[in-house]
Amino acid sequence: MNILITGAGRGIGLELASHYQALGHQVLGTVRSKQHKAALETKGIRALELDLTQQHSVLELAEALKGQALDLIVNNAGVLHAEADLDEVDAFNFAHCIQVNSLGPLLLSRALLPNLLAGKAKKLAFISSLMGSVGDNGSGGYYSYRASKAALNAVAKSLAVDLAPEGVRVGLYHPGWVQTDMGGPRALIDTATSVAGLTQRIEELDEAASGRFLNYDGKPLPW
Ligand SMILES: NC(=O)c1ccc[n+]([C@@H]2O[C@H](COP(=O)([O-])OP(=O)(O)OC[C@H]3O[C@@H](n4cnc5c(N)ncnc54)[C@H](OP(=O)(O)O)[C@@H]3O)[C@@H](O)[C@H]2O)c1
Repeated sequence: MNILITGAGRGIGLELASHYQALGHQVLGTVRSKQHKAALETKGIRALELDLTQQHSVLELAEALKGQALDLIVNNAGVLHAEADLDEVDAFNFAHCIQVNSLGPLLLSRALLPNLLAGKAKKLAFISSLMGSVGDNGSGGYYSYRASKAALNAVAKSLAVDLAPEGVRVGLYHPGWVQTDMGGPRALIDTATSVAGLTQRIEELDEAASGRFLNYDGKPLPW
């Protein structure tokens, strides 16, 4: 398969890229720094620049990939601002979260739709978060991150509905609490465990599973 993964320079994105690369797939990973570009290219993974806060960056990536079929796009890149409490809410951070976690993945998926339609598998995956679940929110706080992931869930659900007639399948996943820069060292699982589950979910993604919000282990999650 031809696979594009955003935020592939570290964390879950790097593990996903390495996993698919090891299986012999053609992997394109997006990065923002020269250091991460070089690290991916050392592994034989093509690295392309993408900053999800910049619409021109999304359009430049689409232009660079014009005419190239993609079977799977994994919208993985994300940010979390540690605004656990109400008095920490900051307008810039809130907008930044929306740009990277919700609007950016929507604009990128739309820009790369011709590539996806030219591919065989036609799978569009989003790495969301259980913190975007309104139904599961029993602890409050984290306003910007929760809102941006809830918005991502709404975006992915609409894409699942709108693109179903064209055969596109949309998967929406919580990766678990994962040991990365974002998840921190106290997180419950490592990136390999998360990616083993996520890639299994993506493998199983069919018409019936499209538009569902699932844990990395396959458990359905509340919206
Ligand atoms: N770790 C967890 O416990 C956990 C739990 C639930 C959901 N998630 C979700 O899983 C996904 C991956 O998280 P992670 O734990 O691997 O995080 P991470 O280690 O912090 O990595 C985040 C990735 O996103 C990229 N990124 C950030 N801002 C970007 C931007 N403006 N444009 C393009 N790329 C950008 C980063 O690129 P740079 O290296 O250039 O900064 C990096 O590759 C995220 O969507 C996150 O919300 C994680």
